[in-house]
Amino acid sequence: MLSDLTRVSEAGDSPLPRRTGVHGFLLLVAGHETTVNLIGNSVLALLSDPGQMAALLPGAVEEFLRYDGPINIATVRFTTAPVPVGDVEIPAGEFVMISLLAANRDADRFPDPDLLDLTRPAAGHLAFGHGIHHCLGAPLARLEAEIALGRLLDRFPAMTLDADPADLRWRDSTLIHGLHGLPVRLA
Ligand code: HEM
Repeated sequence: MLSDLTRVSEAGDSPLPRRTGVHGFLLLVAGHETTVNLIGNSVLALLSDPGQMAALLPGAVEEFLRYDGPINIATVRFTTAPVPVGDVEIPAGEFVMISLLAANRDADRFPDPDLLDLTRPAAGHLAFGHGIHHCLGAPLARLEAEIALGRLLDRFPAMTLDADPADLRWRDSTLIHGLHGLPVRLA
């Protein structure tokens, strides 16, 4: 896709030639960082609870997205009118950063939210955002995660975590929720 974008840009056929770099950046961050970290977070969740290793994909991917999705916050929203949230009212004209991870652990929506349960109906989570900006790549991301995790488990069913969970380091990022590294022992 990046090659095609570059080709049309070089041929002068792109309606927005100077946007090619922007599109490339968007696709790399939105399309790569996200899926990579979903796979890492899912493997960590599975290895921390090996009893669920044999659970069924693809339904499992929805629960991985809910339990430890790779994106911390939605795109920034702007209130055009006062918005009541619980006991608080956000005035009109404010920027709002919405924590997708917190929404996905809302006990009113998902009972026992801190529990990874690959059999729960996890649809309705906010890992891909909500509304008009809902993730364009969601079907591709679901497919990639399903294929990658399925292949990994098929090939290395005895995989274990090769680190003390307390030593794993999470990235210090506003947007991305993912690990610096995930050492595993394949067999
Ligand atoms: C697990 C993987 C992914 C996650 C968790 C994810 C999550 C998100 C989130 C939270 C948003 C913002 C939604 C909002 O503010 O309401 C978004 C937007 C977007 N995503 Fe993804 N994404 C993933 C994979 C992908 C992939 C693979 C692509 C493309 C190849 C992609 C392309 C985009 C684009 C273009 C937007 C902007 C849509 C708009 O503003 O209308 N994403 N994504």
